[in-house]
Amino acid sequence: MSKIVKGMFDVMPKDEENWRQVQWWRFVESTARTVAERFRFQEVRTPLVEYTELFKRGVGDTTDIVEKEMYTFTDRAGRSISLRPEGTAGIVRSFVGHKVYAQPQPTKWFYMGPMYRYERQQVGRYRQFHQLGVEAFGSFDPALDAEVIALGMQFFEELGLKGVQVEINNVGDPESRARYFEALIAYFEPYKEELAEDAQNRLYRNPMRILDSKDPHTHEIAMGAPSILEYLSEDSRANLEAVKQYLDILGVNYVQNDRLVRGLDYYTQTAFEYMVDIPGAQASTIGGGGRYNGLVQEVGGPDMPGVGFGVGLERVLLALEEQKVVVPEPSRLDCYMITFDQATKRKSMELLAELRRAGLSAERDYLDRKMKAQMKVADREQARFVAILGEDELAQNTIQVKNMETGTQEAVPFDQLVTYIQTEKGR
Ligand code: HAM
Repeated sequence: MSKIVKGMFDVMPKDEENWRQVQWWRFVESTARTVAERFRFQEVRTPLVEYTELFKRGVGDTTDIVEKEMYTFTDRAGRSISLRPEGTAGIVRSFVGHKVYAQPQPTKWFYMGPMYRYERQQVGRYRQFHQLGVEAFGSFDPALDAEVIALGMQFFEELGLKGVQVEINNVGDPESRARYFEALIAYFEPYKEELAEDAQNRLYRNPMRILDSKDPHTHEIAMGAPSILEYLSEDSRANLEAVKQYLDILGVNYVQNDRLVRGLDYYTQTAFEYMVDIPGAQASTIGGGGRYNGLVQEVGGPDMPGVGFGVGLERVLLALEEQKVVVPEPSRLDCYMITFDQATKRKSMELLAELRRAGLSAERDYLDRKMKAQMKVADREQARFVAILGEDELAQNTIQVKNMETGTQEAVPFDQLVTYIQTEKGR
């Protein structure tokens, strides 16, 4: 009964495995919010579930995600619903559903939360994982592509993560891609029998995906395949050059990789990935994204472009742990109150309430521990102040307050306790 669902994990208040500690998550999440908001992206929250059709249409029915990885179920009214395997489709659904396209553009949104894919569990690959995503709608300006890429880099930088590489490519507009598909099919056809099974299946449906096949022999064959660069329209080519120039202005180091393909069907033009070394993990991609200029229309909106990325927070955390990045400490306990009998416990409740209302954190014993054991708890909690409320103190309306850093101890009248701790704490 106490077994957790395969591929999922708890984030614990305290845990030996560092990156699964709440404190680490809060650090990553608050840094993400700060950076996204500095770029004027606003937070949006959409449901964890959507109609299955949205992902089939949006992400694409020939993708691994839709073909084999979705958690899909039928609700009580017979509708097919899926846990979101990624964020973009739901965000676009919301953008269209609320007619946000009719407002002044661009619209810049970000989101954070769990995604679900039924994948084989490995280091850095889970069935419930979390993404930071950003999506910007309504502009074709390649400067926006570059700024979206730079936002991700600034996020990594502010976390203290080193060695993140950006790879970029342009996967063309639909016309360039159609020509490229033909060229790829012509190239791979003679090798058809040698290709891995999933590559064979994709040959006529989505031959670009063969380029990132994990099968060694297929990979070798794919090395000789034509490059998309030869098939890009003037416009796509200019676009790629512009994004690169803007990345230079922004000081983002990147590598152009004409073999970079993404595992989702909605991409047009710019495609990119963030990579960093995570020992023990097969996947070194900590994030990826690009343009999806046809998706808003596909989901029922007007012809309006979009660009964004998704970053896997587990992978970011694993990399932070690997690089021994120091995560800010949780805030300390301000006051631990030591009590003895019923009467002092009763009074302590009043005093604790006052401290908490004044914005201080305060704690006491609930297990009738002896004084010495209570002191131990105060120590373990690293309390800044220990306040001792004995019978004598109670009779005199005072409490003994010990500053655990300086070691000084004073009797403080009840009605001055809050001010005393606030003042002492500020010293
Ligand atoms: P994606 O490449 O499928 O793109 O996922 C983005 C990132 O999520 C990956 O680079 C990886 O770090 C993380 N990720 C994916 N699957 C798992 C998993 N099973 N376990 C742990 N981490 C995982 C998208 O999802 C697009 N929606 C990104 C995007 C937004 N493109 C435009 N806008």
